[in-house]
Amino acid sequence: MTFAFTQTLFPLKRLQSPFLLISSLKSRAKFTQIVAALKYPSSSYSKSSSSEMVKAIVVREIGGPEVMKWEDVELIEPKEGEIRVKNTAIGVNFIDVYFRKGGYKFPLPFVPGREAVGVVSAVGPGVTGRKVGDVVAYAGDPMGSYTEEQILPDKVVVPVPPSIDHKVVASVMLKGMTVHVLLRRCFKVEQGHTILVHAAAGGVGSLLCQWANALGATVIGTVSSEEKAAQAAEDGCHHPIIYTKEDFVERVNEITSGKGVNVVYDSVGKDTFKGSLQCLALRGYLVSFGQSSGTPDPFPISDLASKALFLTRPSLMHYTATQDELLAAAGDVFANLESGVLRVRVNHTYPLSEAARAHADLEARKTSGSIVLIPDN
Ligand SMILES: NC(=O)c1ccc[n+]([C@@H]2O[C@H](COP(=O)([O-])OP(=O)(O)OC[C@H]3O[C@@H](n4cnc5c(N)ncnc54)[C@H](OP(=O)(O)O)[C@@H]3O)[C@@H](O)[C@H]2O)c1
Repeated sequence: MTFAFTQTLFPLKRLQSPFLLISSLKSRAKFTQIVAALKYPSSSYSKSSSSEMVKAIVVREIGGPEVMKWEDVELIEPKEGEIRVKNTAIGVNFIDVYFRKGGYKFPLPFVPGREAVGVVSAVGPGVTGRKVGDVVAYAGDPMGSYTEEQILPDKVVVPVPPSIDHKVVASVMLKGMTVHVLLRRCFKVEQGHTILVHAAAGGVGSLLCQWANALGATVIGTVSSEEKAAQAAEDGCHHPIIYTKEDFVERVNEITSGKGVNVVYDSVGKDTFKGSLQCLALRGYLVSFGQSSGTPDPFPISDLASKALFLTRPSLMHYTATQDELLAAAGDVFANLESGVLRVRVNHTYPLSEAARAHADLEARKTSGSIVLIPDN
């Protein structure tokens, strides 16, 4: 199979091992076709007496939220280095929308989702230091968290402190580690910096405002409504801008007395990218980390020259590539939760079977803060 990979947050080689096998199969031919499509060697699929059926959301075709179906899938036994985890809460992230709509490519059919917390229900050979009953969480690869239970490589999970509620963990693993990367790794925000955050009331945006405020930055944020502006202000955004009513470039210019901001965190992409460049101070940084409104248009590098600007397009996975980096990022997030710097807004929960409704609301900008799916049983 050829991958038509145009753009992804995650390295290609790490996308090729889905652990759930779709099994609502009418015939052997269809079974073989789906196994091939999953790029999972068919020899490794066996209907052993120990395999189990679980419920999951399955995407068989690219499209709107309606392509996410509630199906039975077969869970195989954990192999060398793997664990089985019974999910208790699953994070919904905008990247799940990109994959469902085909902007980011993944072989069909697939179980979406890249973030979950749960209880270890089985441990494969060669795994040490992990036991049945442990509470663990992961964010990133592999794809496949919209399921009651899943197989994960042991090395991608982190232990969860018992004091933290599972819904909070599922709200903050991927988004919180992303904020760690944005504020501590891509550009180190310090006291006295002025920053601009787009989608300031969103899942990532809410945490970004809280953390940046605690670091001593002056935070400017863009949002679409009065309600979201009020939430952003509560989260430490000093200057919420309702971009549906005001030109955000002009407002940033006014707020900073023409100096511009040290860094823009832009996850909206197409609609904001050019304006973001205009908002930057001399030698400012544009951290373009998402494209909720679409991929930014190409632009000449010479556009950076007028103010000696920096541009980076980070992905969480590239900053948590080693286990040390992963544990450091997760540790920083959990420490900020426990100290009260991060006050996670679990503003929306849906039964896992209703993931399509969660996606529809996210795409329609009806949500703020984090969205969590709770397994039905
Ligand atoms: N690079 C990475 O590793 C990484 C990791 C995590 C997340 N991200 C990115 O961070 C962004 C935020 O993710 P999230 O899960 O926390 O989502 P979110 O911010 O909760 O939701 C997206 C928000 O973007 C705004 N938006 C602007 N134009 C939009 C459009 N055309 N369609 C939909 N929303 C639009 C909306 O806020 P308003 O109503 O205020 O406009 C909406 O609520 C996404 O772009 C995601 O891809 C990147």
